[in-house]
Amino acid sequence: MTISRRSACVVDSPTVSDLVRCERRGPVVVLTLNRPDALNALDAVTLEALRDAAQEAAADPDHRALVLTGEGRAFAAGADIEHMRKLDASAGRAFSQLGHAALDALEAIPFPTIAAVNGYALGGGCELACACDWIYASTRARFGQPEVGLGLIPGFGGTSRLARRVGLAWVKELVLSGEPIGADEAQRIGLVNRVFEPDELLEKAVATAESIARKGPVAVALAKRVLQDGQDVDVRVAHQLEQNAFGWLFGTDDRVEGLDAFLAKRDPKFGGR
Ligand code: COA
Repeated sequence: MTISRRSACVVDSPTVSDLVRCERRGPVVVLTLNRPDALNALDAVTLEALRDAAQEAAADPDHRALVLTGEGRAFAAGADIEHMRKLDASAGRAFSQLGHAALDALEAIPFPTIAAVNGYALGGGCELACACDWIYASTRARFGQPEVGLGLIPGFGGTSRLARRVGLAWVKELVLSGEPIGADEAQRIGLVNRVFEPDELLEKAVATAESIARKGPVAVALAKRVLQDGQDVDVRVAHQLEQNAFGWLFGTDDRVEGLDAFLAKRDPKFGGR
């Protein structure tokens, strides 16, 4: 089989690439990791395909939300162990940098992203889910950072993004014990927003994405940006960011349309300007 590292997403036409499948559902793009025989383990080629898919999805002005899921019984069972077996220290660092580049590309998508975790989300798979704005999980999902059991540590954001999601005590337990948790516990600790039956998961995630797509796109994008940027700065600076963004939106057509539509008791027709 020829391995293509590219993903492809053709408007209104489900298209299959070898490693990351991309499907348009109106304004929603669904990316599916597609290495089910290896439980969607993340090797360098898959990470490059994921990075490219995220960048392509971000560049399409018609996209309003993204859902990321996995083919088969895993979301992603982590960084590819066979691939990592061959790496020396310098190549290991480069592999971590590639993982970060792919997850940074996903995090940088200007519209909301939802991880629909259908099964194992271990190691890099758990870190990948954390690069999305939030996580919906199937009752079959399992989350964990098992790297210490392999003589490694998380390399794609498990010590940083995951810590910000669940707090220091829980990330320490997950990373230092290496023991996985189920979907209900992941929801209890704030890693997962909602848990669904396996056959409902993807449709629920897409329905949420479609609902977001009906809101004011400029406002949604700016809210995401302010929320993210506000995490990394002093709270007073975060308040300033919010004030500036709030004020800026008053100059948009969408703001006029949204308020007019409410007062006229009709649905808004946002133009995204
Ligand atoms: N890297 C490479 N291959 C992986 C993988 C990974 N992270 N996780 C699973 N696979 C492969 C297995 O080698 C196996 O391949 P094979 O059929 O050619 O032997 C296939 O996926 C199915 O996995 P298997 O272990 O047989 O399934 P299972 O149901 O018995 O166990 C897991 C599932 C997820 C518990 C187990 O695969 C596992 O522990 N994976 C590693 C998780 C991990 O440590 N991730 C962090 C890496 S840093």
